[in-house]
Amino acid sequence: MNMLPKHSADATTAEEGIAIQEEQAKFDSTAATELAMSNTLLTPRFYTTDFDELDAIDVSPVREEWDALIAQMLADPNKGHFKKNEDWDHVDWDGMEPGLKKEFIDFLISSCTAEFSGCVLYKEMKRRGNNPDITQLFQLMARDEARHAGFINDALREAGVAVNLGFLTQKKKYTYFRPKFIYYATYLSEKIGYARYITIYRHLEEHPEHRFHPIFKWFREWCNDEFSHGEAFALLMKTDPKLTSGKNVWWIKFFLTAVYATMYVRDHQRPAFHAALGVDPDWYAHEVYVKTSELTKQIFPVTLDIDHPRWQKNLERLHHANVQIADAKKQGGVAGKLAQLAGSAKAGLAFVTLFTIPVKKHRVPDSPRLEPVY
Ligand SMILES: [Fe+2]
Ligand SMILES: [Fe+2]
Repeated sequence: MNMLPKHSADATTAEEGIAIQEEQAKFDSTAATELAMSNTLLTPRFYTTDFDELDAIDVSPVREEWDALIAQMLADPNKGHFKKNEDWDHVDWDGMEPGLKKEFIDFLISSCTAEFSGCVLYKEMKRRGNNPDITQLFQLMARDEARHAGFINDALREAGVAVNLGFLTQKKKYTYFRPKFIYYATYLSEKIGYARYITIYRHLEEHPEHRFHPIFKWFREWCNDEFSHGEAFALLMKTDPKLTSGKNVWWIKFFLTAVYATMYVRDHQRPAFHAALGVDPDWYAHEVYVKTSELTKQIFPVTLDIDHPRWQKNLERLHHANVQIADAKKQGGVAGKLAQLAGSAKAGLAFVTLFTIPVKKHRVPDSPRLEPVY
């Protein structure tokens, strides 16, 4: 008989990890799954792409770095890491301030959905492809994301909610992205994910009194996984110089702006969560942008000018417009609709203003490989 390992942390493939989660799904809550199902500009989406085009990538130009990265991932230093152990302190969910509890659960559900979104995309690539290099990489990345999503779900279950991942796979809407957009978006989300997790981890190392939940103790190993995934996408892009030159530089700028702006707006929706962590969301955003920009110089010839006078001002405008849209939706009726339109126009203008800030140009190194040093 084929025995499953007991915990998704020990699973060596994404399929195993998901099967273990499926076993537990009977306890998972409809409300959390519904939240994970929702599709707005700000909620994590599921993606699909042209898998044949991805499968056709030849990694020979980066063979040496590629083999080193794959060997590192095969060694699997984080196997068994993503599960509760004696470091997992008791969480007093009932005693948690309701505003914080709501925002934190929302944070966990959104993080779980994002992790699982990566898992589903990577797993599908592995399943559809024939190229041994590509399928091996995507199988390894899907393995990691399944563990991450499973671990967040463990934390959610303690609060009496959890996302039904099997249901999500079947029912959530998939957005089609051309492969090159998958590279830009996924590369950035892996690198910004690393920067976000390590910034919180380092902050809580200095201020352990703000660590209101044990999951943050796992963030260092966690972000190292995301770091490797980002490295893999940097290598994939390196195989084809066209991807990071010519008019594609405009696409890179667009994705940088969209990813940074989305993070800003999303984080500012969670004031109680950031207050509990002792983190000013504006400081946090800037820290994450600085780190991410430094990292993306490994492959992108441009970074955003995050110190430009229009930058912070228009991020704030975007955030306020987003609050206005949310309030108008609640209000409803004709007045609500009009206020919603006005909010959308403001948001659009703020985004365009951000996008038109001149970029900073860089010379990209011959070898993109980096180590996680933050
Ligand atoms: Fe992940
Ligand atoms: Fe990842």
